[in-house]
Amino acid sequence: MKFRINGGKSLIGEMPVGGAKNCVLPMLACSVLTEDTVIIENCEKVSDVLDMVDILVSLGAESEWQGNSVVINCRHLDGDIACDKVGKIRASVFLLGPLFARYGYVNACLPGGCAIGSRPIDIHLDGLRRLGAEVTVDDTVCCRGQVHGNDVYLRFPSVGATENLLMCASLCEETTVLYNCACEPEVTALEKMLVSMGAEIYGIGTPVVTIRGRKKLHGVRVRAIPDRIVASTYIFATLCAGGDVWVTGCNPRHFSRLNRMLKDCTDTYRTYSDAVHIVKKHRHKSTGNVITAVYPGFATDMQPLLVAAMCTADGKTAVTEKLFENRLKANSLQLKSMGADITVNGNRVTINGVAKLKASDNLCATDLRGGAALVIAALGAEGESTVNNAHHIERGYFRLQDILKNVGADISVCE
Ligand code: EPZ
Repeated sequence: MKFRINGGKSLIGEMPVGGAKNCVLPMLACSVLTEDTVIIENCEKVSDVLDMVDILVSLGAESEWQGNSVVINCRHLDGDIACDKVGKIRASVFLLGPLFARYGYVNACLPGGCAIGSRPIDIHLDGLRRLGAEVTVDDTVCCRGQVHGNDVYLRFPSVGATENLLMCASLCEETTVLYNCACEPEVTALEKMLVSMGAEIYGIGTPVVTIRGRKKLHGVRVRAIPDRIVASTYIFATLCAGGDVWVTGCNPRHFSRLNRMLKDCTDTYRTYSDAVHIVKKHRHKSTGNVITAVYPGFATDMQPLLVAAMCTADGKTAVTEKLFENRLKANSLQLKSMGADITVNGNRVTINGVAKLKASDNLCATDLRGGAALVIAALGAEGESTVNNAHHIERGYFRLQDILKNVGADISVCE
């Protein structure tokens, strides 16, 4: 599947943001902690979410879609996660904590690395050991034992490991204290979900979280938070293509670092409680130097999008990637083929903004955000571009082509 984009059209109108897939994925894993039904509202049917539901169904869960809500019941589950499923989606690693807590046993294939880096899971496994798991790793990861409370210090505030350990500790009647937790909004949303299911949690949204779990948790109806990375994609798309766009249904407090960076870069950049209004009529300015960091720093998932937008900014930009080692290389070469003045040096990229990019008929998405970044770069390039391997983009964007078409982009999908 590929996108064909005829660039150079301004974007005008509204771009609505749906629920965050990185919120829905751990929420789906969380449904494993109860025999009751869990309903997650505001889910986009992106392929990562569909794959995660598939994995749960293959373990014995019952699920159905009601509009944009997933209804899931995990009364009877199996603790063996088949290898063909796990390879498909990294988020299946989230199932280790909940399945171990519930059954005292889980066996899963190791999720491999991916295009953005090696992505080890040592922090997840060290934490699960502290919570009672005897962990063996060969072709598969196996956790056995009886969950118990403990103090756990995470050597790095990993989003996924924090989520895994929060879920595991919530199904245990003892007290656990997690130190150096990730504080991303998606983690906070999961903490609130666990409280609604019956766990006692103190320090929500902070690096030190105390959990007093329960032997049984109950069902819940929750709502996924808006996708801050999708919101930023629409914002950067407007910088690339020019235009006058309202990004609606988002929560700008979840990307305040980005708002501070962009407020003086373009003709209008205004935030509201649930929207951003961005106007670009004249060439935008560079944001200056940016380093990716954990929340509330500048998100690594926004980095490829920022790089694409800075290729045509007035001024010089240096971007340093601190989280995923491979996230700069693949796209930079492709942007160069579009006329960008961009140099990669290790985990740092330097961009001298040029007035315009030119189209390229041979772009290739190598991962989700990198693929979206090529699409937005092509929106601002004169002529027709093609972005191959667009299935990577569908992992996290629901019908991106329709949202872009609605605001005037000339984009189509070909098989
Ligand atoms: C989550 O991945 C997101 N995925 C990623 O979104 C996002 O890029 C990332 O957090 C960082 O914000 C989901 O929420 C499903 P981490 P996760 O564990 O949890 C190292 C997207 O495009 N690390 O916080 O896997 C790791 O290598 C994606 O939507 C270890 O060394 O990220 C990385 O350098 C891709 N050992 C850093 O920590 C571990 O055990 C942060 O990773 C775990 C992580």
